[in-house]
Amino acid sequence: MGDFKARLSEYGAEVEAELARAMELPGVPALLQKAMRYSLEAGGKRIRPCLALGCSDMLGGDHAMALRLGCALEMIHTYSLIHDDLPCIDNDDMRRGRPSNHRVFGEGQAVFAGDALLTYAFEYLLSGDAPFSGQYYRRACFEIAKRAGASGMVAGQSLDLEAEQNRILDEERLGEIHFHKTADMLIAAVLSGAYSAGAGEEAIKRLESYASAIGLLFQITDDILDHEGDEALMGKTLGKDLESNKLTYVTLYGIDRAKELAEQTAEKASEALSLFGRDLTGEREQAGFGFLCEMIRFIKDRKN
Ligand code: IPE
Ligand code: IPE
Ligand code: MG
Ligand code: MG
Ligand code: MG
Repeated sequence: MGDFKARLSEYGAEVEAELARAMELPGVPALLQKAMRYSLEAGGKRIRPCLALGCSDMLGGDHAMALRLGCALEMIHTYSLIHDDLPCIDNDDMRRGRPSNHRVFGEGQAVFAGDALLTYAFEYLLSGDAPFSGQYYRRACFEIAKRAGASGMVAGQSLDLEAEQNRILDEERLGEIHFHKTADMLIAAVLSGAYSAGAGEEAIKRLESYASAIGLLFQITDDILDHEGDEALMGKTLGKDLESNKLTYVTLYGIDRAKELAEQTAEKASEALSLFGRDLTGEREQAGFGFLCEMIRFIKDRKN
């Protein structure tokens, strides 16, 4: 775990530096720029870019390409958090240890900060200083667009809100919500790393099954932490899922069963990864392979 934490903090530092560089935005009105940076620079675990980098390094990929893809995902993720906290969605006052974006800039500017982060992510991916082209970069950008959009994360958010408003409490809907609102973005992260290494179809398929499992695990633990986490450590409003009739693992199955299901999902992720590791990676990738393996425990046992 020591090596894992060290690597996570190395990747984290690279991501912070790249985001700071990327967010020097000439021509953007001062207030809009301030609102965009307020949420993006507030920290966060940077799990998505770290996954892209970890997977890329495991496969001997183009590290700079994975960094760019991962940072674009972080911009999109941050927009999703700003919109998720709005009064018309989850109505939350705290995020990343600070008052949420709309509490500081007002609802209108928060909507625009989200819109701007989303569109800027693609501008950044396609801009002249991104020295990438070719079919694999294109595939990764497509993956990000698709998994973030109307059949991906936004689909999950829409199904989530509909379930809450209409008090839908069923297992199938819960699976769909979690897969789309959260797992899709983690899948996009892992596959971005894989594409940066020119991974073939079989490797993509197996990594997708690993990433689906850690994505689902990530949202199950989020549900558990909403119920019993420490608000100061989490840096966001907790305890609202129950009171707002949100469809979650805890509200549907209860806390004990949710924890069992988290364990089972972690097992599935390990199985998917060991299958991948046995057949598709050689000796030289073992260090990186360990990173994706430790990531499972990190997500399951996280406190923030
Ligand atoms: C929070 O994501 C929203 C979910 C998908 C559960 P993170 O837990 O990755 O939030 P940050 O980026 O660390 O703030
Ligand atoms: C949101 O899930 C996932 C997103 C796509 C933003 P939640 O609504 O449970 O995330 P938190 O708990 O507010 O971070
Ligand atoms: Mg939400
Ligand atoms: Mg929320
Ligand atoms: Mg939550």
